[in-house]
Order: sequence, then C-alpha cells, then structure tokens
Amino acid sequence: QTIEMELQQIRKGSFDHFMLKEIFEQPESIINTMRGRVNFQNKTVKLGGLSNYISAIRRSRRIVMIACGTSYHSCLATRDLFEELTDIPISVEIASYFLDRRPPLFRDDTCIFVSQSGETMDTIFALKYCIERGAMCVGVVNGVGSAISRQTLCGVHINAGPEIGVASTKAYTSQYITLVMIALSLSEDRLSKQTRRNEIIDGLAKISAQLEEVLKLNDKIQAVAETLVDKPKMLILGRGYQYATALEGALKIKEISYILAEGILTGELKHGPLALVDEDIPIIMVATKDKLFDKIINGIGQVTARSGKPIFIASQNGPALIEGSNKKENGVTETAAADYNGAEKSYVKFEVPETVDCLQGLLNIVILQILGYWLAVKKGYNPDHPRNLAKAVTTE
Ligand code: AGP
Repeated sequence: QTIEMELQQIRKGSFDHFMLKEIFEQPESIINTMRGRVNFQNKTVKLGGLSNYISAIRRSRRIVMIACGTSYHSCLATRDLFEELTDIPISVEIASYFLDRRPPLFRDDTCIFVSQSGETMDTIFALKYCIERGAMCVGVVNGVGSAISRQTLCGVHINAGPEIGVASTKAYTSQYITLVMIALSLSEDRLSKQTRRNEIIDGLAKISAQLEEVLKLNDKIQAVAETLVDKPKMLILGRGYQYATALEGALKIKEISYILAEGILTGELKHGPLALVDEDIPIIMVATKDKLFDKIINGIGQVTARSGKPIFIASQNGPALIEGSNKKENGVTETAAADYNGAEKSYVKFEVPETVDCLQGLLNIVILQILGYWLAVKKGYNPDHPRNLAKAVTTE
C-alpha cells in the first residue's frame, strides 16, 4: 500500500494530482496523436489503421458516432467538420441512449466508437448492436488491446498515453484531433475542399505551441476559481463549435467540484435558461471569434440585459464583446467608446490564441479543465478520485 502510494507520487512528478499533470501534458500528447500521421509540408494525413477502409467509409450512407461522457463531447466538437468536409450525414449518439432506442441501422452505415479506455460497457454493447446489423465499425480508442480496439473492424489509436485522473482531459484533446484527422482523410479526394483542408493542417501545425500559451493562464484561472468556489451552480454558454466546449467544461466542473454546472447552447437561452440569469449566478461565455460572432454578441447582450456578468473566454486581441464598445467603429464619439471599453475591462476575460474555427475548442476547453481542477482543490476534494465515479465504467 505504502509502496504503491510512493510510486503514484513519483509518477505525478512535480504535480499534486494526475489531473493537473495530464492537463499540462497536452501540448505533447496532441503531438503524439499527430506523429507520423499528419505531413505538414505536403498537407496530407495518413492513418495506417484506416487506409484500407477509407474509400468504403466515403461510400457510406451515414456516419454515426457513438460514445459516452467526454468522449461523446469530442464527437460533438468535430461533427460540424465531418459534415462540412464529407457531405455525408452525421449523427452523434450517447451510447446508452442509442441502446435504449435500438434505432434502425444499415449495412451501408459507418459507426465510429470513441472511447478513452476502450472498456466502457455502454459503448461495447452499442458496438455489438452495430456489428450484428452489419455496419462498418471503426474504433477511436486510447486503450491499446482494449475490448473496443479488438472488436472494431479498423480504427485509430489516439496515442495520448495513459490517463490516470478520472476526469478525462488529454484524452479529449487527442480524440478531438484524431477525429479531425479522420475527417481530413475522408476528404482527401475532394478538390473543392483543398483550401479548407490546407488551412486546417496549418492550424494543426501551430496548435501545440498555442496550447502551451493557454497553460500560462493557470495563475489567473486559479485566482478566478477563488471567487467562484462558494457558488453552488454556474452556467457555461457556447454555440456552434463551442457548444461541445460548454458541455465538456460543465462536465469537468460538476464531476470534480460537485458544483451544478450546466452547459447551454447560447441559441437556446431564450427558450428557457434565460430565466436563471441574474446578477448572482456565475456565467462563463465562450466568445472566441468565429463566423457566429454576431450571434455570440447577441447572446452576450441577452445576458447582460438581465444583469448577468459573464466571464469570457475570448480571442487574444479580438473584437469588443460588450455591445457599446463595438459602436466605436459605428461612429460613436471617442469618449463614449472609451467608457464602453472601460466597462468591458471590468469583466473577467481569459484571452486565448486564435486558430481555425474547427480547432478553437482544443484551446478553449483547457481554460475550463484548469478551472474545474482549481475549484475541486479549493473545495478540498481530490480531483483524481471524484466520489461515486470510476475511471472505466464497466457496468451498464
Ligand atoms: C469524463 O471526465 C468522464 N470520466 C467520463 O465521462 C468518460 O469520458 C466516459 O465514462 C467515457 O469513458 P471512455 O472514454 O473510457 O469510454
């Protein structure tokens, strides 16, 4: 027992917990995920485990991504990109709900099973269901030799290295990148997608260094955590690509700090959750710049008009977020604009480097991983062993 504990301490190195160590490993683990697969010079992607099956997957009538928890969120985070690059209908399924419904499935469907452990019972049962119906089953798994890795026809290992903390962090970013690489592979034959593919591959080349930059916000995040530690609930808002970030961030915070955090699609605010907004409830808004920026600004307006005071995850040197400060460009006097900008300064803002829209979630999520970590630690909980949870959920 004592020897085991000492060994654990050695494996954690200079970090107090595996979770923080794994968060800080991400600049390296995502490189390992891409190593030997993405050629940044020729702008090509080669996934050995899929190469014999890529053209069959391209011919499928539909791609169904199936997973649980964090792994499910990595599917949501990349769904838009699959749709954009492949023009194949994509559905994303929570394994247990998929099994509850036992939906129609066909031989010309491709099913992608995403799992860190490769041993999650719900996902394994869903895999069995899809195999029985003759669908092509692909694995995206960290656990080499795991049940899902063995039972799928083909697949890609995410190569994130062992993840010990129950809260999944580096597996998420590596799953995300693996799914992006699959989408890139599937569209390699599409001339019309070439420019977009090149832009994404250039983005992947820089992403590790940018993630390193986000980690430098650790101290600031810790200080903000201090102000939130006694709050019983919080809202995390995002839209488009950042909806997955909101859901995954909320899952991180609730599973280790036991704060009731709810991830909400900003577009849904006025359909109910807006009723929760007041000056007390902490609200985190993912507001990095992308093609939905006007709608993001609109969402911020909805929140601030109800006295909400959001904490922003925003683009470094990005455009103003609080409505009035935009008016500078629209001809409002300098003084008024200065006031508005001053007002914006009173909001907490975490500024992250800008990348391609479909990769931005890789950087944004890190803020929420670190925030979840500090909330747990400050409340006196061990983030590596949240109550009632196991690392691999091997029961249905
Ligand atoms: C996330 O932090 C969780 N611990 C959990 O949601 C996890 O992602 C889920 O149980 C799926 O596990 P898997 O990736 O090993 O299949």
